Amino acid sequence: MDPLRHHGDAELGPGLLDLAVNVFPGPPPAWLREALLAAVADVGAYPDATAAERVVASHHGLGPDTVLATAGAAEAFGLLARLRPWRRPVVVHPQFTEPHAALVQAGREVTTVACRADVGFSLDPDAVPDDADLVVVGNPTNPTGVLHPAPVVRRLLRPGRLVVVDEAFMDAVPGEPATVVPHVDEGLVVLRSLTKHWSVPGVRAGYLLGGPDVVAALRLEQTPWSVSTQALAALVACCSEEARVDAADRARALTGWRAHLTASLEAVGVESVPGAAPFVLARLGAGRRDRLRAAGVAVRRCDTFPGLDDTWVRIAARPPEVTAVLVAALAGSARNLT
Ligand SMILES: Cc1ncc(COP(=O)(O)O)c(C=O)c1O
Repeated sequence: MDPLRHHGDAELGPGLLDLAVNVFPGPPPAWLREALLAAVADVGAYPDATAAERVVASHHGLGPDTVLATAGAAEAFGLLARLRPWRRPVVVHPQFTEPHAALVQAGREVTTVACRADVGFSLDPDAVPDDADLVVVGNPTNPTGVLHPAPVVRRLLRPGRLVVVDEAFMDAVPGEPATVVPHVDEGLVVLRSLTKHWSVPGVRAGYLLGGPDVVAALRLEQTPWSVSTQALAALVACCSEEARVDAADRARALTGWRAHLTASLEAVGVESVPGAAPFVLARLGAGRRDRLRAAGVAVRRCDTFPGLDDTWVRIAARPPEVTAVLVAALAGSARNLT
């Protein structure tokens, strides 16, 4: 298996507590379920994304030609990889590996730039080679959880360079202070996803935001009708006032769960990386992930992320009663070490 194509869902198994997949736990909200069910009435026609894209654009205060609906953020990585014959595409690691895998699959030679542990995995825009014509960065970054300030991300911009910011987890950060959505006309493409925050990985709904020229060119790359009727209904539903209120509630809950998780890890002597994502990158030490697994707890391995090794794991932020199971298992695995 290509390590770049390893994902958290492969860590799951019967009887294991899932702390490996960063989807908000539980079902989607009732209003979203209802929108998905109601969309069944429309599946007799080919989907047309125009109306949903208008709703998303107005939700973000942007023009209608700045939005492309996609089958999850994942589809966007392939479209972007094929958009141009990139001469020097750069992926800032450690980050979600699909953009790197999509570039390799498109036959591009990828340059990696590393955010280093000794500086808290912060982004150094000057570390990106000047001749990079494509730069992909995640914010907040999976798996480090680090939230790069918007002005730092914008320092990646150069004439003739496309900067892609994967904001698949931005809605988990209350108030989204670091989003670069208002700057998409500056040579940025922003990716957003419904998957995590709304607990709908199976729907495959997301979108990208960018300048009208880039969006039009990406649209030409896209397979016709690739975003389903249900996914388009979900996009519209998630732009409602009801969704805005629930999105903020979910972000607040995740922030509290994260704080509790990091404090709990610290209490049992486990170092973690400060961040703002709905998961935590923790340094457990080699071998402890396997012992956690044997104790019934699945966390995400991190040795498949360029720049990390098997001493690191990624742990999903969950309600305190769930984190308590992890802490008990960690205490047990610490006892097993002595
Ligand atoms: C950082 C990041 N970006 C994008 C994706 C893909 O999301 P989607 O389900 O919208 O394709 C993931 C999924 O794990 C992710 O972690």
